[in-house]
Amino acid sequence: MVAIDGPAGSGKSTVGAEVARRLGALYFDTGVVYRTLALVASEQGIPPDDAGRLAQLAETLSLRVGPPSIDDGRLYDVWLDGRDVTWVIRSSEIDRLASLVSAHPPVRQALLRLQRELARNGRVVMAGRDIGTVVMPDAPVKIWLHASLEERARRRQRDLAKRGIVQSLDELIAELAERDRRDATRAVAPMRPADDAIIIDTDNRTIEQVVEAVLAIVRERCECAEHGADSHSVASVTTPQN
Ligand code: DC
Repeated sequence: MVAIDGPAGSGKSTVGAEVARRLGALYFDTGVVYRTLALVASEQGIPPDDAGRLAQLAETLSLRVGPPSIDDGRLYDVWLDGRDVTWVIRSSEIDRLASLVSAHPPVRQALLRLQRELARNGRVVMAGRDIGTVVMPDAPVKIWLHASLEERARRRQRDLAKRGIVQSLDELIAELAERDRRDATRAVAPMRPADDAIIIDTDNRTIEQVVEAVLAIVRERCECAEHGADSHSVASVTTPQN
């Protein structure tokens, strides 16, 4: 089990999917669950502050995540009742709504079971905000991906541009900062690195360098487990520059 947490735009999805591919593991991006819930709620007219109805909806939410069926830059397909919502859940409105709906404790509780069931499926790389702290607190490998706000906004701008969406850097910085603030200050399962997470600074590093750094940690931790060493030590590493 590899837990990868970090703020929006820190590279969790890209890195997580590639790490999973190389380990022959299942990759699961938990943000997809909150995003899909936000989409269904907004389509059904459920306001983002209605914790009770959102939790009910979360109990019955049925989505399917699978390998990419179209070569359009997606890492995976997200299906909701036979509808391909892969890109629909990536709008800036859903960015905002997903962060709002995910702050309600009963919503998180309802979605926790689903995420833990996935974690029991053997080899899994799971990405989110609270994977190392709440969803898989026993994961032998916990990674926190760090990136500066400006760098994350630049990445988001590039991703949007690929889909023909133009948004100013200032606007993106403001949106990301607001989302970070909300995700990190909510009462339940706030976004934060687990005490035993290894922090990787991804600024000025390529995806390949970050992937390699994560894989090196996986190899090292596996060895530690074999030799009975303490796998919960606090460590901080940076990836090689070249
Ligand atoms: O990772 P993402 O940007 O797709 O996540 C969208 C929102 O979902 C994020 O702003 C907060 C919420 N989220 C969460 O609360 N816990 C997770 N494990 C993953 C996402």
